[in-house]
Amino acid sequence: MQSFNWGVLGPGSIAHTFAKAIAPSKKGKITAVASRSLQRATDFAKRYAIEKTYSDYKQMLADPNIDIIYIATPHNFHYQQAKMCLEAGKHVLVEKPCTVNAAQMQALVALSKCKKLLLQEALWSRFMPCLSQLRQVLKEGLIGQIQYIQSDIGFAFQSRKESRLHQAELAGGSLLDLGIYSISVSQFLLEEHPDSINAIGQLTEQQVDGHVLANMHYASGRYAQFTCSMLSQTSNTMGIVGTEGHVYLPACFWDTDLALIYKDNELIQNIEIPHPVNGFEYQIEQSMQCIEQNKQCSDMMSHKDSIGVMEVMDDIRKQIGVRYPTNIEALN
Ligand SMILES: NC(=O)c1ccc[n+]([C@@H]2O[C@H](COP(=O)([O-])OP(=O)(O)OC[C@H]3O[C@@H](n4cnc5c(N)ncnc54)[C@H](OP(=O)(O)O)[C@@H]3O)[C@@H](O)[C@H]2O)c1
Repeated sequence: MQSFNWGVLGPGSIAHTFAKAIAPSKKGKITAVASRSLQRATDFAKRYAIEKTYSDYKQMLADPNIDIIYIATPHNFHYQQAKMCLEAGKHVLVEKPCTVNAAQMQALVALSKCKKLLLQEALWSRFMPCLSQLRQVLKEGLIGQIQYIQSDIGFAFQSRKESRLHQAELAGGSLLDLGIYSISVSQFLLEEHPDSINAIGQLTEQQVDGHVLANMHYASGRYAQFTCSMLSQTSNTMGIVGTEGHVYLPACFWDTDLALIYKDNELIQNIEIPHPVNGFEYQIEQSMQCIEQNKQCSDMMSHKDSIGVMEVMDDIRKQIGVRYPTNIEALN
């Protein structure tokens, strides 16, 4: 069995979830962490028994013992940092959204193909076995033909003005942080990209999207509808409606370990697959398996799907008037 040395780039909030998830792995371990703050890197390293610390991302990338980097910084940095990792010959698992727009995602995909290195968006829901089993059951027609999907996702961040979600220069807003789950999980279940989208939204004083309400239509005639908010605490549930029944994904629907399947308003089946750790472990193991198989991404969250989700978000941002600073949308 191949083993993999991971480097963590940006040991902030979500990097802790990653570190806990990889701890029991038989294949992978974190051997280095890089932060702009040596103190932050050292604290993180101590907590998770990590060998090496760097106060410069590039220095970590020059370490020949590191195979793969987990990028855990705010959205606006992902494109440049993923590019830097691939150019340094490292495989990369990038937190969602992998880039700020579809053009950046396309450029990274081309680079990963050219370098024959993994470029994986860490859209963790997509790797959960519960969601895969649900997709299979839906394909088999347990609730008839799927008609539409409805979901909402929201947390009240209005008092946390320092949060990256409030900042346009960090590609903040509810869509890229939260709405991405509704779009991506709907895409996974329907196995289709929308052909038309209608969205309305409310911008904050900082000109990022506070709420978004969107309707997506698919060529098959199905729909997906979602709301996302960084200003309201919502139900965080998803419903999948078929001609003969419905499925309910309780909160938080994107942390999918339970799906409740109903027919004629009676619960007929539960799909329940508890996470061994916290749900991040699936995407970590899948990334390493892809490298072993010389694949540049997983079929569970392909490059085509990452680009498709980014295209939807580009379209919605255009419709509701969210414009990030041009430098973070650029390709250079
Ligand atoms: N999958 C999930 O459930 C989940 C949940 C939360 C977040 N996320 C994703 O994870 C990513 C990071 O989110 P987070 O909440 O963990 O971020 P965070 O804690 O705010 O920041 C993570 C790291 O990014 C760097 N950073 C933060 N603000 C910066 C700034 N203004 N300028 C330069 N560097 C900055 C810092 O790296 P240094 O240590 O080097 O300074 C920091 O340690 C985002 O893409 C987010 O969407 C995913």
